[in-house]
Amino acid sequence: MTARGLFLTFEGIDGSGKSTQARRLADVLRVQGREVVLTREPGGSAGAEEIRRLVLEGDPDRWSAETEILLFTAARRDHMERTILPALEAGQIVICDRFADSTRMYQGLSRGDLRALVDQLHDLMIGREPDLTLLIDMDPETGLARAKGRQGSEERFEDFGPELQKRMRQGFLDLSQEYIDRFRVVDGNRDLDAVAQDVADIVLKAL
Ligand code: ADP
Ligand code: TYD
Repeated sequence: MTARGLFLTFEGIDGSGKSTQARRLADVLRVQGREVVLTREPGGSAGAEEIRRLVLEGDPDRWSAETEILLFTAARRDHMERTILPALEAGQIVICDRFADSTRMYQGLSRGDLRALVDQLHDLMIGREPDLTLLIDMDPETGLARAKGRQGSEERFEDFGPELQKRMRQGFLDLSQEYIDRFRVVDGNRDLDAVAQDVADIVLKAL
């Protein structure tokens, strides 16, 4: 826990239920009278939402791997400055749907091994990890089927296909060992209420 607010993130492959669970958790905490900021990446501030369109729409080869890391990091920096840090300083709970661990996975693993570069930029420009990260772990085929069920133009990373989704899942599990103090792994292959109950138990304990 930080001196003031609490910074929570949800991570996992596409379609694992992060957005759904982030909303549910926000509801639970608000009912308890806590001030919650529910946000997401890429995005979460006006400038970062503009960058979101640049990285998630259009030709998948639009950016080199390195430029893409810079864009995600630029979006995160703006999001930190304008949304996350002010909320934490005001003592609020920030729930963020994806954060730097997604960059470590998607930009760090998918187009060659760029993890070191991702970490260097993170240290230089962000310099902060969440207090608690909920990894919604699940079978990639189910996740992909769920993600494909949604409509929209933001398809870049969902189009990776099953092989890469499998590597991402394992990569997230490996990350949970690397950052063992802040990660909690939740089994996402269950009904919504069961997952939400685990998430609430973990977070209420951390509070
Ligand atoms: P993510 O944010 O991880 O991509 P979402 O929360 O958007 O995932 O969920 C993807 C889809 O799967 C949505 O249509 C959502 O309603 C559905 N969904 C989420 N959690 C579950 C669950 N535990 N069981 C069945 N369907 C789910
Ligand atoms: P998101 O809206 O969370 O998609 P989903 O609900 O399908 O999980 O994120 C959009 C995409 O952005 C997702 O495919 C993962 C990708 N992404 C990165 O590649 N790097 C990042 O740093 C972040 C935050 C997201």
